[in-house]
Amino acid sequence: MSQKPEIFVTRKLPKAVEERAARDYRAHLNGPDDPPDRDALLKGAEGCDGLLVTTTDRVDNSVIEALPDRVKVIATFSVGFEHIDVAAAKDRGIVVTNTPDVLTDATADIALLLMLGAARRASEGERMIRAHAWDGWAPTRMLGTDLGGKVLAIVGMGRIGRALAKRARAMGMTIHYSNRSRLSPDLEEGAVYHADPEELLAHGDVVSLHCPLTPQTRHFIDTRRIGLMKQGAILVNTARGGVVKDDDLIAALKSGRLGSAGLDVFEGEPNLHKGYAALENTFLLPHLGSATLETREAMGFKALDNLDAFFAGKAPPDRIA
Ligand code: DGY
Repeated sequence: MSQKPEIFVTRKLPKAVEERAARDYRAHLNGPDDPPDRDALLKGAEGCDGLLVTTTDRVDNSVIEALPDRVKVIATFSVGFEHIDVAAAKDRGIVVTNTPDVLTDATADIALLLMLGAARRASEGERMIRAHAWDGWAPTRMLGTDLGGKVLAIVGMGRIGRALAKRARAMGMTIHYSNRSRLSPDLEEGAVYHADPEELLAHGDVVSLHCPLTPQTRHFIDTRRIGLMKQGAILVNTARGGVVKDDDLIAALKSGRLGSAGLDVFEGEPNLHKGYAALENTFLLPHLGSATLETREAMGFKALDNLDAFFAGKAPPDRIA
C-alpha cells in the first residue's frame, strides 16, 4: 500500500491513542463520540481499509455483508467480541482482532469492588448519606456479611477470573471454579475445579461470572440455576449482561433467595431493567470494568498494534478470525 491505510475509528478514544492513529493512518476519528448506528457505521466504512470498533458497535452478519470490499480488517477495542459476527467476517475473508490481557487487572478490581460493595451494603449506605437519612451509628443496623472465610465460585477461570481469585485469596476466601477445561496446578493455585458449572453454583457464598456471552451461556443465571445457589448468596457480574436473566435475578433479590448482587454489565445496556435500581440490595456500576485511563490507552494501543501488524502483512497478535 503506497499511501497510509485508511481506517474508521467508531468512538472517541483516549488522546494518546487517537494521536497515534492519526500519525500512522488516514484515520477518521469520532470527535463528538456519537455512537454510530448501522447506517453510520457503513457510511464510515466507505473508502476504508479497516475498522476500529468497540463493544457498543453491532457488527452483525448484515453489517459484515454490507461492508465495502475494501474493508479487510476489524480491530475491536475490547476483549469481548460477541458484538461481531466472527463467522460471517471469516466467510468474507475479513480479519478480526481483540484486546486481551491489558484489561485483566482493571476488570478484576471492579469485580472485587462489586463483591465488597454488595457484601457490605455500600450502595445503600451511600444513598442514605446523600439523602441525609443517616441518624447515627448503631450496633445492629446496616449489617453486611464478611467475605473472609467464605467461598468464591468463579464461572469461567480465564485471565480475569484468575486475577479475581488472586485478590479474593488475599482476603481469606476459598476459590472454587468451573471452566471449559481444568487448569494446570500452577494456574489453579489450589482452587477446586467443578467440571459442571451448575454443580459449582451450590458451593459459592459469592458467585462471580467471567464467561463470554455465547448461545450456551445466554441467561445461564435463571430461576432454576438460582435455585441451585446457596440461600442468601451474592452474585457478581463483570462478564456480559446477557449471561443473566434479569427478571429471574430481580425476583430472587426481592424475595431474599439471593442476598445481593454487584453488577457492572446489563442486558440491553445502557437501558438496563428498571427493577435493579429499585432494589436496595444491588450495587450497580455502568460498565466500568476496563475504565481506567491506563487500561483504555493500553486497549487502544493493542488495537493499533493489531492493525499495524495486519497492514504490514504480518500475523496480528490477537487475531480471533
Ligand atoms: C471488553 O473489553 O470486552 C469490555 O467489556 C470493555 O470494557
